[in-house]
Amino acid sequence: MQNIRKVTEDIYWVGASDRRLALFENLFPVNRGISYNSFVILDEKTALMDTVDSSITDLFLENVEAALAGRTLDYLVIHHMEPDHCANIEEIVRRYPEVKLVGNKSTFSFFEQFYPMDASKNYYPVKKNDELNLGAHTLKFTMTPNVHWPEVMMSYDLKDKILFSADAFGCFAPIDGNLFMNELDFDQRILAEARRYYVNIVGHYGKNVLSALKKLSAFEIDMILPLHGPGYSGELIERMLHYYQTWGAYLPEEKSALLLYGSMYGNTENAVDILAGKLAEKGVANIKIVDISRTDPSYIMADIFKYSNLVFAGTNYNTGLYIKMDNVIREALHLEIKDRKISFIRNGTWGGKALEIMQNYFSDEKRFTIVGEPVEIHSSVKDGDLAPITELADAIAASILKEEE
Ligand SMILES: Cc1cc2nc3c(=O)[nH]c(=O)nc-3n(C[C@H](O)[C@H](O)[C@H](O)COP(=O)(O)O)c2cc1C
Ligand SMILES: [Fe+2]
Ligand SMILES: [Fe+2]
Repeated sequence: MQNIRKVTEDIYWVGASDRRLALFENLFPVNRGISYNSFVILDEKTALMDTVDSSITDLFLENVEAALAGRTLDYLVIHHMEPDHCANIEEIVRRYPEVKLVGNKSTFSFFEQFYPMDASKNYYPVKKNDELNLGAHTLKFTMTPNVHWPEVMMSYDLKDKILFSADAFGCFAPIDGNLFMNELDFDQRILAEARRYYVNIVGHYGKNVLSALKKLSAFEIDMILPLHGPGYSGELIERMLHYYQTWGAYLPEEKSALLLYGSMYGNTENAVDILAGKLAEKGVANIKIVDISRTDPSYIMADIFKYSNLVFAGTNYNTGLYIKMDNVIREALHLEIKDRKISFIRNGTWGGKALEIMQNYFSDEKRFTIVGEPVEIHSSVKDGDLAPITELADAIAASILKEEE
């Protein structure tokens, strides 16, 4: 049964949620599912803003038909040519053969790479700042390359001041009735998942995010409608733009320590617990310890973006660094994390290069500041280790508390 929702007088949400999906992009756990948003604008001309993932095709097509209420479709605007939003372009062209596909050069070349249909007669190419008049509504196009694919563009509705933002401002969240974040407890329910979405989907492209934000600053925005999760209106727009500014610039939100450990038998964990206790005694709040072996990397990456001070506690493993720790660090570096304060704990029983490998990853002084002396544990923590752990805690606490002044 169709399930369409009114967003404004003449704009309808025609998307749906997939709550059976375990891993978004076959990588990121989406515990509550995720929505694929799509919108119909009913004006003198009709427009469909993106399609959806193949998992919800049937409901989506019913929704589009219901929203159009017997009218034909004049335009399909393709903000992002990724299959989770494009799986139904061919079917839309089959159903509405006259529809104009609005996109840019890369949109159409990606379309041709993904899908066999020759739809070239339907192409309606647009460039930056082009406008598409639908009647009362006029859509103005802004190219926002690499947020997070090269062909990504956004459109701004001059009439209702709505930004159709493609994947930007999305969230790992379904639509549970409420179409807007403002109708939900944002801090409790959304922020962490909006951050985890940003970090893992867009995090690598901070520079492009900042340049997109600069372009968007030309618009007065009353509503943001992303392709995943609820939209934004009211005071949350300013807040979200601020978060994107922070995340795009790789600025930490929490002046505190994130302690990441990989431990086979618990001794490295023991060292981390002792360090964390000493940090707390010195007045550091909101310390977080994460066992990287049992935490999905997408959550670890989100925390790495959040915290100012990162402690990597890794063990020697087959003469190198514990593999999961190696993966965590490589992934964080690939996301272009920078401007973090880094400290190390290494545990080993007979020898290996865990410490050197970790130090090597963070050797770029323009990108990272090393705090304190690395602590080296030999199999288990002993009395003699307490002094170096305390010194490391002193150095980390000083770097955090100094900044807070
Ligand atoms: C499969 C395996 C390989 C290991 N390889 C090394 C190694 O090459 N060099 C070393 O010093 N310790 C090695 N260790 C020992 C770990 O570093 C050891 O687990 C650690 O010192 C104790 O810390 P934990 O209790 O946190 O695991 C290895 C342990 C395992 C299980
Ligand atoms: Fe995408
Ligand atoms: Fe997407």
